[in-house]
Amino acid sequence: MTHPKTAEEMIAAAGPIEKNLSLSLLQITEAAAVAAAYQTGRGDRKHADHVAVEAMRRVLNQLDIRGTIKIGEGERDEAPMLYIGEAVGTGNGPEVEIAVDPLEGTNLAAEDMNGSIAVISMAEKGGIFYGPDIYFDKIVVGPKVVLYEKRNKNGEKINIDAPVSQNLEIVSKALDKKVEDLVVVILDRDRHKAQAKAVRDAGARVRLIPDGDLLPGVLTCFENSGVDMVMGAGGSGEAVLTASALKGLGGKITGRLVLPSAANGKNAEAVSKELAEQLPRLEKMGIPEKDIGKIRETDDLVPGKDVIFAATAVTDSPFMKGTKLFGGGDACMTGLLIGSSGIVRVIQSRYIKDKEKKPFSI
Ligand code: FBP
Repeated sequence: MTHPKTAEEMIAAAGPIEKNLSLSLLQITEAAAVAAAYQTGRGDRKHADHVAVEAMRRVLNQLDIRGTIKIGEGERDEAPMLYIGEAVGTGNGPEVEIAVDPLEGTNLAAEDMNGSIAVISMAEKGGIFYGPDIYFDKIVVGPKVVLYEKRNKNGEKINIDAPVSQNLEIVSKALDKKVEDLVVVILDRDRHKAQAKAVRDAGARVRLIPDGDLLPGVLTCFENSGVDMVMGAGGSGEAVLTASALKGLGGKITGRLVLPSAANGKNAEAVSKELAEQLPRLEKMGIPEKDIGKIRETDDLVPGKDVIFAATAVTDSPFMKGTKLFGGGDACMTGLLIGSSGIVRVIQSRYIKDKEKKPFSI
C-alpha cells in the first residue's frame, strides 16, 4: 500500500540551512527571550534590549557558521554588538547571512505588555537585504491575497500607492470577506492618523497597536488569526524579518524605505539633514539616493532560497505564551519556527534543570 510522504518530501526538499540549523536558530531566540523575560515590567527598555542582545550573541557565536549580520542593532559606531556587518559564529561551517531583532517591542517588554518577541532569521550568502536602519512603509498581506493576485485577470495587485479602499477591495475579494469584516493592524503613531481614517472610511476596522508590528505581519498568513492586513511605516529591520517569515508562509510585503523624519512629517530642513547623514551609509550599501523610494517586495528584502525564521515570545503574544520563569534560570516558552520549504512549527520548550522535582507537564 502506498501512502503520502509529504513530511519526508518536504524535509528532503529543504535546503541545508533549514535542515541543519533550524533548531539552533530557535535556541538562539530562546536564550534571548529568557534574558529579556527577567527584565519584563522593570521599565528599562534599553537594559531589557541589552541583555537580549548579549544572550543572542553568545549563543550565535557557538554556532558552526561563518555568519554576517545584515540586519542588526545598528551601525558599528553606534552598536557594539550584533552591528550590521559583524562576523558571528565560530568561523567554521556554511557562509550565512543573518537578520536579528533580539527584542522586538522593547517598550512592550519593559512595561510587561503583550507582544514582545525575540527574533532572528538566516539565509545563504546574498539572501538578506543589506539595508539601512530606517523605516519601511509597507503593506503586508497573506497567501490568499498572493494567490488572488496571480489568478485574477484584471492585473489587480496590492499597491502601496493606490488608495486604501482599492487595496481593501482586493483583500476582501481574495479572502472572500466583506470589507467591513477586515481588520487592519496599524502602529498607533501620528504619522498613521490619515491612513487609519482612510481604512475606517472605507468600512474596514483598524487595530491600533502601541508597538511591535513584526508579528502582526506574520499573522496575516495565519487563517483566522484576526489580522487581514498590516499597513504603515515601521522599522526596516522589522520589515526584513517579516519578509523572512513570509517566504515560508506564502504572504507578501510591499513598500519602500523612508526616512523617519520624512515619515513623521518633520520639516524640509530636518529631512535634508537626515538624508545627508544617511546617504553615505546608503550608498555604501548600494542604495543611491534615487533608489531609496523604490518599491521593494518580499524577494527584494529576502532574496534567499534557503531561509529560516525563528521567534520566541518574551511576553504573551498571539498564539504564543510568553516566557515563564521558575527561578535560577529555569524557564518555559513558546516559539515559532518557519522554513522557506513551507515547514512551520509552533514549539513549546522547557529548560528546567531538575527533571525529577519538576517533571514535564503539557
Ligand atoms: P523596538 O523593539 O526597537 O522598540 O521597536 C518596536 C517598534 O514598535 C517596531 O515594531 C516598529 O516597527 C517600530 O518600533 C516603529 O518605530 P517608531 O517607534 O519609531 O514608530
